[in-house]
Amino acid sequence: MKLAIMGYGVVGSGVAQVLDRNRASIEKKAGCPLELQAILDRREFPGDPHEKLVIQDVQRILEDPEIQIVVEAMGGTHPAYDYVKACLERGKSVVTSNKELVAAKGVELLRLAKEKNVNFLFEASVGGGIPIIHPLHQCLGANEILEIVGILNGTTNFILTKMIREQMSFEDALAMAQQLGYAEQDPTADVEGLDACRKICILASLAFGHHVYPDAVPTQGISRITREDVALAERWGGVIKLLGRVKKLENGTLYLVVGPHLVPKSHPLATVDDVFNAILVRGDATGEVVFYGKGAGKLPTASAVISDVIDAAKAEGTIPTLQWQEALPGQVADGRQVPGAFYVRLTGCDGQERACCEAQFEGACFLQRSDSLQGEVAFVAEGLSEEELDHRLATVLAQGGTLASKMYVLDGDF
Ligand code: HSE
Repeated sequence: MKLAIMGYGVVGSGVAQVLDRNRASIEKKAGCPLELQAILDRREFPGDPHEKLVIQDVQRILEDPEIQIVVEAMGGTHPAYDYVKACLERGKSVVTSNKELVAAKGVELLRLAKEKNVNFLFEASVGGGIPIIHPLHQCLGANEILEIVGILNGTTNFILTKMIREQMSFEDALAMAQQLGYAEQDPTADVEGLDACRKICILASLAFGHHVYPDAVPTQGISRITREDVALAERWGGVIKLLGRVKKLENGTLYLVVGPHLVPKSHPLATVDDVFNAILVRGDATGEVVFYGKGAGKLPTASAVISDVIDAAKAEGTIPTLQWQEALPGQVADGRQVPGAFYVRLTGCDGQERACCEAQFEGACFLQRSDSLQGEVAFVAEGLSEEELDHRLATVLAQGGTLASKMYVLDGDF
């Protein structure tokens, strides 16, 4: 079977490398020879073992009937969407690592693949080298999924780990993540939580059966986290992690959020460090299952892409379980009204502001650290909605003081 790769950057070149390295065993699993026929990229790659396969015109892939599987590793939605759609329309299966594309256009591309009796596969779009898409629609197929909580972005987990364990600055840690090939071309998508948001949307769409679009999900990144927050999280007995969460509420709507969370040290996600990702899935039959591994990087991501290439080569028609429907109006709940737990840090709170805060949040866990600045008040409050929290905070801030930080707390009972 002949393949093409569109996009010969970190992931695309990793796919060629792993295919070359493990060809015999990969072809055995695929049940046929896999021959790389073309590589689409604007650039040239002198000295690369596949330099002669590099082409600049996508038509050469589209018009070659021998190419039956196309790996899309270009990233972004333009021109990736047009190219992927054109491949599917011509009856070629597409394997992608592109979470932005799947989160934006997944429902449409899955439908088109089904119409053409081919496959649109995207194991590498979530969790890098961790198998999660296939387990979710195959191995956990007996379950009603109740919730998914994940560390879904390797770059931010790497940065937070370096800040917490090595007191490295945010900028230095980000530069290191970029050098190691973890970060997106524009790292804003990592740092501001958009990448994690796209990934939780893909998982939510697959687990709950209707497309969830990223703009429906409240999303916050890690760029405002300070050393003070890290120290206060430690006093509370936890660490700060950027989490994506989805849970089906009793009324059938979905609670979704992406943002930094205080995670108790006893929780399985608290010890997931560096570029590692972990995804906790709770099924009604299995209980909690945790998937753990390298969430970014050339070879781990290539591993996930090639597992899809094997599936595409073996499949007789469209894989029926990898499907979801159009978004439902009102399917995403107003998360601000859902009870939860929150961490708050205020500055400039002395005398009356402090007294007002203690009265408004009576019963909360107030946190002290050895080198607290004058006027710093920090606490964890449980059993209230974000709307209620903001209402009470407004009462405090009307007296004075500044809201320095507000984060979710993973309380194990959301
Ligand atoms: N930039 C992404 C991350 C790459 O850091 O997780 C893998 O999707």
